Parts: sequence; C-alpha cells; structure tokens
Amino acid sequence: MPSLHQTHSIDDLRALAQRRLPRPIFDYLDGGADEERSLSRNVDAFADYEIIPDVLTDVSAFQTATSIFGQAAAWPLMLSATGLTRMFHGSAEPAVARPAAAQGVPYCLSTMGTTRLEDLAAEVPASMLFQIYVFKDRGLTREFVSRCREAGYAGLCLTVDTPVAGNRLRDRRSGLSLPPRLTARSLLDFALHPGWSIPALTGDRFDLANVSHRTDALADNPMSLFDFISRQFDPSLTWRDVEWLASEWKGPLAIKGLMTPEDARRAIQSGASGVIVSNHGGRQLDGAPAPIDQIASVREALGDGPDVICDGGVRRGSDIVKALALGATACSIGRPYLYGLAAGGEAGVARALRLLRDEFERTLALAGVPDIKSLARRHIRHRYRQAD
Ligand code: FNR
Repeated sequence: MPSLHQTHSIDDLRALAQRRLPRPIFDYLDGGADEERSLSRNVDAFADYEIIPDVLTDVSAFQTATSIFGQAAAWPLMLSATGLTRMFHGSAEPAVARPAAAQGVPYCLSTMGTTRLEDLAAEVPASMLFQIYVFKDRGLTREFVSRCREAGYAGLCLTVDTPVAGNRLRDRRSGLSLPPRLTARSLLDFALHPGWSIPALTGDRFDLANVSHRTDALADNPMSLFDFISRQFDPSLTWRDVEWLASEWKGPLAIKGLMTPEDARRAIQSGASGVIVSNHGGRQLDGAPAPIDQIASVREALGDGPDVICDGGVRRGSDIVKALALGATACSIGRPYLYGLAAGGEAGVARALRLLRDEFERTLALAGVPDIKSLARRHIRHRYRQAD
C-alpha cells in the first residue's frame, strides 16, 4: 500500500482512503444522492473554467491572507462541517481541527460530530465555527447557541439544504448502520481492513457526542442512520426561523446550502452575515447546479460586503483561484480533508491541506496574480459561454 508521502494530489489521498476503509464506510464518505449527478458535476464544472494569466508580474511573494466570517484566515479556505468523523479515523475531529489551526484555516464542527463541542474548543483553542440545524425541538437549537457562546465559538453555519434526508443509494445498498456494526454481510469486509476495524471496534465508543444526551438512540439500540438523522430535521422551516436564530445568536452567521442570488439576498435580509453556496456536496438534491456556476451571480446580488463561500467539488488549488476570480471570498471543502483523515489520520489531513495550498500558490504564480485581492473576472473565462 502506498504511504502518505507518496500522495501528490487529493485524488491520490482518495485512492489511499479507499484502500484503508471498509467499503460501506468509504461509500458513506465518498457517495452522493441518487444518481450522483450533482456530485460529479460539482467537480467537473471547475474544468469548464480557464484561467487567463498575466505575465511578467513579480510573483516572488504572495498575499493570501483574508477573513472568513470575521475570522482571520492565512489563505482562502475553510473546512466544512462533516458528521460522524470518528468513523473514518479513531483520532476524530481533533485530528482535523489541529492541522487546520496550524495552517491558519477555519474549521467548522458538525452538529453530527463525534467530539463534544466543549472538548474540541478546549483542545484546539483556535477560532472555530459550529454548524447548526434548526431542529424540530427549538429548545435543542437554543441549547446549542448557548453552549457555542460559552465555549467561545466564533460563528455559526446554519445548514438549510436538509428539509428531509437525501437519498444515498450507496448507503442503502450497503446497509450502513450507526454505529458501524458487524453483520454477516460486512464481516469479510471488516476482516480485510484490520487497520480500520481493530481500532474502530476496540477504541473510544462511537457517539454523536453533541446530541446523544438527548437521545439514547445510539447507545444500546443502533438504528438506521437514515431514520435517526431524518427524524431531527424540520420540514416546516422558513426564513423566519433564520431571523429567530440570528436574534438568538447575535454573532457571525452563515447560511449554508443555498444556490441562488434571490436566496442569498434573503439570507442577508434575515440577519446572516454571509452565505455558503452549496448543494451539500451532492448529498441532498441530485440535479442541483454546481456551486462554482452560481458564484458570479450570487456575488453580483450581494455586492462587495458579505462573505460568499464556494462549497463543493474543490479538488485542486487551482479550483480555489477560479472561485475567487468569479467573486468568492473563499472555498470550503469536505471530502478532501476526510480522504486525508482516512488515509493517515492527522498527518493525512495536514497533507491534504499542504497539497491544496501548494497548488493554490503555484497557480497564483503561474497566473501572474500573487495578491488574491487582484484576482478579477478578467482572469477567468468559461469555455462554452459568451464573455459578458
Ligand atoms: C457532509 N456535509 C455535511 N454538511 C453539514 O452541514 N452537516 C453535516 O453534518 C455534514 N456531514 C457530511 C458528512 C460527509 C461524510 C460529507 C462528505 C459531507 C457536507 C459538507 O459540509 C460539504 O458541504 C461538502 O462535503 C462539500 O463538498 P465536497 O468538498 O465534499 O465536494
């Protein structure tokens, strides 16, 4: 099996993760909803954009620092919330938050995470974000708001693209359960991946650490992942709930999972400080457009002020350059750092971030634009669309 230092791209880390994880676990990480059209489109859409370089500009030093939802970032990247992290590596969320802090990029902990938000904030005292849902039980959401405030979280990301759970066919077919358990069907697969299975079966108890005090569903009575998660979502949510959350929290608030200029405007009017253009990495509405294709119109609608994050499909540093040229403040990633985590724990996450940053800076140099503030629409063009 190749080792981490033999990986030279996010795709290499993905291949290593695939070898290290039992099939149902890899499929949960890697898969999307239904036919996975949005999942592949999210990635492929970046290839339709070309970077138009300037030459003979001085590229001996870079200016990549920015701010994301009021937090300083050394370069324009954020790590999106992903649930069930301990399933990919026993070192769980701290192994993601530490390299993120070391490389100066914000990390967003998921409500469905496997480390208590208070424990993570104590262990990694960098500024962090928390991904929140407005649950059917508003009391649980209010409880998260006060816990995040107490623990010093810098901002909240409200996920709004999950009125119901997406239809993940790979997980249905594999019969993935929470926590993962041995079945006649999975026995051989787990046995073939002892590097994952032994720590997973003998290590810390698998737990949705931030919500498990409200439900014993995961303690001794494993139930289907789909049933558990879908029972938490409230299909009756509206913009008034965003106004309610903004007034409860009163700090930086991002709306994650919108796609259009109209909804972006509505988010800011409802009290959000920024938006994360996202289709949940193709895990919810299959057929939704690729986030990169929506960035220019969302930026145009919001003007220069609010943050606009491009979330989904980023696999190369050059993708970040493209998103910035179209008007994004920064990009965010999910699977790329999880591939790193599954491939090699904390060192694997650090490797994923280092590879992306090197590609990002190399692209800036080759494009002749060493200062990200100078990236502009003239530096990008769509292969098939008329120039505007
Ligand atoms: C996610 N995502 C996600 N989003 C969210 O708001 N709350 C969550 O708990 C999760 N959980 C989750 C688990 C896994 C395994 C993945 C892959 C994704 C979506 C995530 O925040 C982000 O929007 C996508 O991952 C972005 O797409 P890429 O970067 O994976 O292509």
